[in-house]
Amino acid sequence: MNDPLTDVEDEAATPLTPQERHDLIPSYITTRDQLNEVEQLGIAQADRWAFSRKRKVLDERFLLSLHKRMFQDVWKWAGTFRTTPRNIGVEAYQIAVDLRQLLDDARYWVDHAIFPPDEIALRFHARLTWIHPFPNGNGRHARLAADLLVVSMGGERFSWGGGALVDADTTRAAYIAAVRAGDGQDFAPLLAFART
Ligand SMILES: Nc1ncnc2c1ncn2[C@@H]1O[C@H](COP(=O)(O)OP(=O)(O)OP(=O)(O)O)[C@@H](O)[C@H]1O
Ligand SMILES: [Mg+2]
Repeated sequence: MNDPLTDVEDEAATPLTPQERHDLIPSYITTRDQLNEVEQLGIAQADRWAFSRKRKVLDERFLLSLHKRMFQDVWKWAGTFRTTPRNIGVEAYQIAVDLRQLLDDARYWVDHAIFPPDEIALRFHARLTWIHPFPNGNGRHARLAADLLVVSMGGERFSWGGGALVDADTTRAAYIAAVRAGDGQDFAPLLAFART
């Protein structure tokens, strides 16, 4: 039987383990559409909260609390690192160390203006999604974090292709191709995508 919550119609979407399926809070949710809808409510609230004042984005505690705010009504593990492997992402035991390294690097890029603001925020985004700290919601969390980071440097938030990235459509395919190019240190596709 098809389980809409575990089927992977898009290889870049993280499959849920049975444990994570068990960790879904609203018991009435049976379809991916319903899931997207409740998630979106929490994300919109978190977005308003995050932009309501100046935030120290390059901080582990902030990034965890941001994920918690986004998904706390939906997932029991909102705001906590994953403990199981994924097809993308570092080994679970490496998450904290790799994240600390990324935050150190990104703070250095900001403090010394190593790259223009868009490039700093998108390099940060690509490495954060590559680490894949959370059981789910990594893409949405890392996009909001990149928006907050670029705004904190005086830039404008990104348009991310101008469409919803939740469905397996062409915009999402372009986004995934762009983050993948970032894995190989080619940030041009992501720089272009995030401003279209
Ligand atoms: N090769 C890759 N390198 C880096 N990041 C990747 C790669 N493939 C996918 N990703 C990231 O992983 C995300 C999917 O992970 P996850 O399901 O945890 O996030 P999500 O927020 O639920 O998804 P979505 O981005 O569809 O809203 C993608 O959106 C993208 O940001
Ligand atoms: Mg997902």
